Amino acid sequence: MSPTPRQLRQELADLLERLGALTDPGWRRAIEMVPRERFLGEAVFTQEEGAAGDEWRSMLRGRMPKEKWLELAYSDETWVTQVDGTPAEAAGSTTLGDPTSSSTMPSLVVMMLERAGIKDGESVLEIGTGTGYSTALMCERLGDSFVTSIEYDKLAAARARTALEAAGYAPTLIAGDGLHGYDKNAEYNRLIATCSVRYIPLPWMEQVSDGGTITTPLSGWMLGSALAHLTLADDGTASGRFLADGVSFMPARPHARPPRSSYVLGLGVERESTIDPNLLHGRTGRFVAQLGAPSAEKMGFGDQVILLDVATGSQATTRRNPDGEGWLVRQHGPLKLWHAVEDAVLTWLAAGAPDQSGFGLTVTREEQRVWLGNPDGPFWNLPV
Ligand SMILES: C[S@@+](CC[C@H](N)C(=O)[O-])C[C@H]1O[C@@H](n2cnc3c(N)ncnc32)[C@H](O)[C@@H]1O
Repeated sequence: MSPTPRQLRQELADLLERLGALTDPGWRRAIEMVPRERFLGEAVFTQEEGAAGDEWRSMLRGRMPKEKWLELAYSDETWVTQVDGTPAEAAGSTTLGDPTSSSTMPSLVVMMLERAGIKDGESVLEIGTGTGYSTALMCERLGDSFVTSIEYDKLAAARARTALEAAGYAPTLIAGDGLHGYDKNAEYNRLIATCSVRYIPLPWMEQVSDGGTITTPLSGWMLGSALAHLTLADDGTASGRFLADGVSFMPARPHARPPRSSYVLGLGVERESTIDPNLLHGRTGRFVAQLGAPSAEKMGFGDQVILLDVATGSQATTRRNPDGEGWLVRQHGPLKLWHAVEDAVLTWLAAGAPDQSGFGLTVTREEQRVWLGNPDGPFWNLPV
């Protein structure tokens, strides 16, 4: 006999505990109660094996046995529900584009909730309702009146509302730009974002109470990310160390990188590189490079790294030195992108190349500083 949804939820909770993502009995109870299958709508996208990275195929609920759909809902997987604004059930068999909404994998959802330190009796502002699954977990644990959630995409917001209502939850749901927060329900004890930001929006600082926290993925146009966990001080500043967890979330819509313009390789002046370009393919190397050149996006692989700043047309391209050891870099345009990246990477290497938890962030009204080691260490300003 196929397992019931309740059994599948218990099995999921067991799995999340084994993975170390779930330790808090309060979240375990929530995982055991919230029917994730209700939040996936009528279809989800899957990436076909061997297909290009950005090719998606939709899988319709109505076209598979009920047990298969339940199995899918209670697997520890992220299910993309929208690609470039098109929901899975409205898409053709194959769709090209980037994910714009999803139900994040349960282990990551619950890890974020635990890292945010949310406790009973606290109020939460969530940025990125998505399908509404994480919102439902918070409603289950905290009660509807303690949860406010904002979704940018109108269609996703409407669907999340329907799913939450059907599952018996009634948080405050806002369709709008979460970067502005929602001041009517402020102040919040906790703010948690499930989309990534390039910098901390100032309204968040104003809407979280003193001693409260902001937990958000911080990313940028090179897609180097880190999970920030900041505590608000009573002088209006916020600071904290990044957490070691590897997280990757879709960008908050107004913070996403600009559309790529055409570019011509081979422009500019070539010289030797003082760093190995392959470092930029690593999780922390990419994050560090992005701190140095935040307006650039990164392409290429292996020895060839291409950095491109769309606004100024500045670019840098590396290659292995054909005549000897090491690498060459060719730079063009007003921004010396590779100089900035070399400075940042050499500073990081000199500090022993720690992972993201070796860095922290301090936010004031005037600037947002990512520091290395401690708040008085080397720093880079975020592009606010
Ligand atoms: C990874 S999904 C959220 C997953 C969701 N928490 C869940 O468990 O299903 C990220 C969501 O953030 C939304 N989003 C992007 N930018 C936003 C913004 N500025 N304000 C609010 N939501 C935003 C996207 O539309 C997307 O639905």
